[in-house]
Amino acid sequence: MRKLILAAVSAAALVVVGPASAADQPIVIKFSHVVASDTPKGKAADKFKELAEKYTDGKVKVEVYPNSTLYKDKEELEALQLGAVQMLAPSNSKFGPIGIKEFEVFDLPYILPDTKALRKVTEGPVGARLLKLLDAKGMTGLAYWDNGFKQMSANKKLVTPADYQGVKFRIQSSRVLQAQFKALGSLPQVMAFSEVYQALQTGVVDGQENTWSNIYTQKMHEVQKYITETNHGYIGYVVIVNKKFWDDLPADIRDQLSKAMKEATDFNNAQSQRENEDALAEIKKSGKSEIITLTHDQDEAMRKAMEPVYKDVATRVGQPLIDEFLKETRGATN
Ligand code: LMR
Repeated sequence: MRKLILAAVSAAALVVVGPASAADQPIVIKFSHVVASDTPKGKAADKFKELAEKYTDGKVKVEVYPNSTLYKDKEELEALQLGAVQMLAPSNSKFGPIGIKEFEVFDLPYILPDTKALRKVTEGPVGARLLKLLDAKGMTGLAYWDNGFKQMSANKKLVTPADYQGVKFRIQSSRVLQAQFKALGSLPQVMAFSEVYQALQTGVVDGQENTWSNIYTQKMHEVQKYITETNHGYIGYVVIVNKKFWDDLPADIRDQLSKAMKEATDFNNAQSQRENEDALAEIKKSGKSEIITLTHDQDEAMRKAMEPVYKDVATRVGQPLIDEFLKETRGATN
């Protein structure tokens, strides 16, 4: 794959140094992502395109590639580092394999009680410090975009922690998520997002965890008999851009793009919750999956079963970061 990405980079370089009229050519930003266009991230990427092209008066052209049409999860991060694409918005859970495991703190079960707590983290010093870690990997972090809270789905009813025993779950590439499912006695398996539907359909895995919006737009509810409303974890994104590309932009263009990004971020964060509620309503309407709601005691039992994850992964994401995160999120709800 790396060879293919490198070939794409060389082809792009030829275009850049090409004909004399190149100076008049728009600057192209390839924005690749793995979800459907009709999701919080998909809509925000399209909004950024619209605003970026407007504010730069057409000097920048944004090409959005949704649904893994250009690259899958792991490849897209390599492609960004090599300059084959300029912009991405991977979930927090996907930075581990390129050596930035700290973002996995967002994966800790029940760490975020609500979006208000989340904002305290992403808009505060912790969020800013995490974005800075990207510099060393040749990326600049521009924004945090919400998706929402995750639900558990499977072909068996998942109510008590014991129900998770031996169930094969697809996970994103995060060790925290691996620890989470191990704590439940399940068998976690890392898999690209684009492969989940088929893996569920063919029984390669029995279940998965995701937001209502992702479940609905990937049609996972059509191949999962049950979805348990657990809200146990969070999926959000870090919008990143190739650092060299960003630093080399003319200052006025960078300012216009920053403005477009700020507005696309506000747009995303204002509509993501509704997107998820709408997706839940559609899934209910389809009648294809039974939605299971937990009682207070069942919810408590799930929380307790996942508690050991915090200790398990402290050395991975760093206990001080976990403490700082908890301080922010607890402060938000008090
Ligand atoms: C997943 O892989 O389940 C999600 O991170 C996909 C996404 O980008 O929302």
